[in-house]
Amino acid sequence: MSDKISYLDLSAQIRGIRKEIDAALARALDQCAFCLGPDVAQFEKDFAQFLGAQHCIGFNSGTSALHVAMRLLDIRPGDEVITTPFTFIATSWAISYVGAKPVYVDIDDDTFCLNPGLVEKAITPRTKAIMPVHLYGHPFDIDPILEICRKHKLPLVEDAAQAHGAKYKGKIVGTFGEMSGYSFYPGKNLGACGEGGALVTNNPQFAARAKSLREHGATQRYYHDELGYNYRMEGFQGAVLGVKLKHLQKWTDERRRVAQRYTELLADTPLKLPREAAYAKSAWHLYVVRHPRRDELKKFLDENGIGNALHYPVPLHLQKAYAHLGHKPGDFPIAEKAAREVLSLPIYSELTDAQIQRVAAVIKKFFQE
Ligand SMILES: Cc1ncc(COP(=O)(O)O)c(C=O)c1O
Repeated sequence: MSDKISYLDLSAQIRGIRKEIDAALARALDQCAFCLGPDVAQFEKDFAQFLGAQHCIGFNSGTSALHVAMRLLDIRPGDEVITTPFTFIATSWAISYVGAKPVYVDIDDDTFCLNPGLVEKAITPRTKAIMPVHLYGHPFDIDPILEICRKHKLPLVEDAAQAHGAKYKGKIVGTFGEMSGYSFYPGKNLGACGEGGALVTNNPQFAARAKSLREHGATQRYYHDELGYNYRMEGFQGAVLGVKLKHLQKWTDERRRVAQRYTELLADTPLKLPREAAYAKSAWHLYVVRHPRRDELKKFLDENGIGNALHYPVPLHLQKAYAHLGHKPGDFPIAEKAAREVLSLPIYSELTDAQIQRVAAVIKKFFQE
């Protein structure tokens, strides 16, 4: 019982595909296509096909892709976007980058995702979009939110940064809204060897403008139509992602194996375990358990060499960066309780059954002591 178990072991993943990665990087180097280029274009085609979407536009991060999503919808200062307080902060940054206001709506206690039943109350004449998150790889409840969007003529933007290949009622997420944003940050289910992201849409006008916005607002070099950015995906990242995409389904199946095993082994502990909603097939980006004694359990896991993490310890409405919104503790009690109780266990496709058993054994020991 002494071997350490990393929270995440990217080297194990790379070892398994090292030859393919080496060959792809060597080819990219020979081509000298460092910014966008053929590997990025091929990956964009392949990822769009994987999702069943019309267009995928590669970006240098998921944050940039979401920022451009806000630009595509012409969201401006004074506008509001309804979103979740319980996510990685980049979801809110995208809204703030265009000068708009993130309007938070509390989450569902079981899925940790935006609670559709609370959304309509938050709509004002200034609301310009709704941007929920498929958190931890688990889809938010899309249909009731789409219904609200249709009723109020609001676009839906899916933050799918954590949910590559997750399904809602049998269909892959990221294809339900006007557009969606993906992240290929190295630790994601589909991760680059560096930064990366994508904007996905079925709207050809959005796709064309997104391509221009990621390249300084230009469709023709040195002719700039509007304020743009340097948000291009690197050629090397396109090459790496092209290799990894071929393995994604297998890796997701392995994550499901890990999740199922944890669920079996931890069933008789006092932990609240993550469960897929009836409509959902999770991508199992994270396996997040919860318990009121989370901080003690975390310390015990740390002391016993079990990697773990907190996603997320502070909800966005209580972050210092958002103090100007004037929120206080108690505004979004479900998100605040989640932030106090959640704990992410190691989950990756190379995790062995012996390792899963050791994680479970340490957790059981904690509750026996
Ligand atoms: C929910 C969510 N949204 C947005 C992002 C931003 O993606 P990136 O780190 O690629 O900028 C991330 C990833 O970190 C995320 O988890």
